Amino acid sequence: MTTQDTPHTPRGPRWLQRYTQLAPTRRNLTVSAYVIAASFADGFGIATLLPMIAVLGDRSAHHSALANTMLEMLHKVGIAPDPRILLGLVVAGTLIKAVLILLSLRQIGYAVADVTAKLRVQLVNGLIGARWSYYVSHASGRFSNALSDEATKAGQAYSAAMLMLSQIIQAVVYIGIAALLSWKLALFALLVSAIMLGSLNRFVQTAKRNASIQTRLLRTVLERLSEVLLGIKPLKAMARDGHVVQLFKKDLGDMQNAARRQVFASNANRALQEPIIALCLAFGIFAALRMLNMPLGEVIVMSLLLAKTALVVGRSQQQLNELHSSEPGLKSVQRTIAETLRAADPPGGGATPRFTRRIEFDDVSFAHGKRPTLQHVSVVLESGEVAIVTGPSGAGKTTFIDLLLGLYVPGSGEVRVDGTSLRALNRTQWRRQVGYAPQEVILFHDTVTANLTLGEAGITAQDLEDALRDAECWQFVQELPEGMDTVVGERGGALSGGQRQRLALARALVRRPRLLILDEATSALDPATEAAVIANIRRRATRDGVTVLAVSHHPAWVREADRVLRMQAGRLSIAAPGDTHA
Ligand SMILES: Nc1ncnc2c1ncn2[C@@H]1O[C@H](COP(=O)(O)OP(=O)(O)OP(=O)(O)O)[C@@H](O)[C@H]1O
Ligand SMILES: [Mg+2]
Repeated sequence: MTTQDTPHTPRGPRWLQRYTQLAPTRRNLTVSAYVIAASFADGFGIATLLPMIAVLGDRSAHHSALANTMLEMLHKVGIAPDPRILLGLVVAGTLIKAVLILLSLRQIGYAVADVTAKLRVQLVNGLIGARWSYYVSHASGRFSNALSDEATKAGQAYSAAMLMLSQIIQAVVYIGIAALLSWKLALFALLVSAIMLGSLNRFVQTAKRNASIQTRLLRTVLERLSEVLLGIKPLKAMARDGHVVQLFKKDLGDMQNAARRQVFASNANRALQEPIIALCLAFGIFAALRMLNMPLGEVIVMSLLLAKTALVVGRSQQQLNELHSSEPGLKSVQRTIAETLRAADPPGGGATPRFTRRIEFDDVSFAHGKRPTLQHVSVVLESGEVAIVTGPSGAGKTTFIDLLLGLYVPGSGEVRVDGTSLRALNRTQWRRQVGYAPQEVILFHDTVTANLTLGEAGITAQDLEDALRDAECWQFVQELPEGMDTVVGERGGALSGGQRQRLALARALVRRPRLLILDEATSALDPATEAAVIANIRRRATRDGVTVLAVSHHPAWVREADRVLRMQAGRLSIAAPGDTHA
């Protein structure tokens, strides 16, 4: 998922690879180059302090090899050992460092925005491209969380990793300069760094553990929230909302505790760094002056180097904290994206479906998990006929339809359209020929028009009116406050159940499909309205040659059918005359 976006998998430690491969290699290299240059500019500024101190009168500083080397170097490039010029160089080194660090931060900022946006696009693409069964088995709250919180955390994780890397680079440069001054000093700087990392590691681990707990709980809470909001009506109606609140309270309480522990650990880490640095410095200065008899000039530079090293090591540890708190989000969103890609709708073949003759189920069996749902279903639907599927609840009627739509793939057997297997057909083109009204109607929180067209261009006002009239909703849509432009509410909640169902029917009709699939699409209508809708559909079928496959138990449909199929415990039989193919 991420490696394919960069031409080469970057080398380096595993933790670093995980983050650097989030952004293009060029961006990572630019950031590193800025930081390396900045560190050298800074190091140069600090090292220039030595000749400056020497020139200012500390005789002993002349004994320092580094001070002499610096003076010789400056002499070679024609810079006089004037204290003001040297001071200028110290200031210049610091300023150049500041500018370069700013430039690197800007690059990191761009990369964070890119990383977040890219993950979001991958997530949306993966999600919309997933097969039907994937949605059935995952709560939608998880995806909202991945898109908002986890994608943001992924960006933060990248930022923390790059900042940590830049601090490590700075520490290495400082220790390098310290080594030029004295290997003992370099060793001491390493020791100080190790003390800081070791003594504060406990807090880093605590912060990590609690960040992970919060990420997990937030996902659970959001998953539950989306579920609860979908089914809030019965919960309220039967006074079970209090129970749900208790469930939330428990998780939110646990999150609160985890947040407390995490924040304390992060802040304790930050707070304890300063005394550790101060103690190490005091000890270092004492040892340098008393035990090593180092010249004062060198001790000043040494202290500065030590303080800077300890500071960047401390900051890198804070970034590690930051990394740990955002890493679970990154991992989670990456896992979700990978999962959606694994669950991608099978692409189908390249054959163009025509459907002018027949649809054929040839010995089709299918199981949801281990339990067989459809068993050896064989039937032929002739183009232009009206077929009804009846049968008890749970018999497999909706599954039969889902197989025809290619939402599920048969475990064995074959579904064919005009003799070509559905597997070989171009899936998009096949579904374009279908008008489908599902058993459970959910409209979008949008206008009537938008709910009917679903963004499809080329649907005319006449198409809309015809569909609305045939679905017996023209009248009530006219009476809505803003007619076709009325927003129907969340999931269509501003309409009655029967009105929603009729709009879903109009949506199936408006694209003038070759195959109309209706799954209990008139179950909420009164007999008179249902009879009118059925008559309109029959007229369409005769006029336009539309094939209708309707699941229903209602006698009105059965009377109108050319053929009645009966589904019983996953087996299909012909229940009415008119069939010669099954
Ligand atoms: N996603 C799923 N995972 C597991 N089992 C499923 C799934 N969808 C349906 N089933 C099971 O498959 C069987 C057939 O379901 P299906 O929805 O096809 O029945 P149906 O005939 O349409 O029923 P109804 O008239 O109640 O709508 C049922 O036993 C159901 O529990
Ligand atoms: Mg059903």
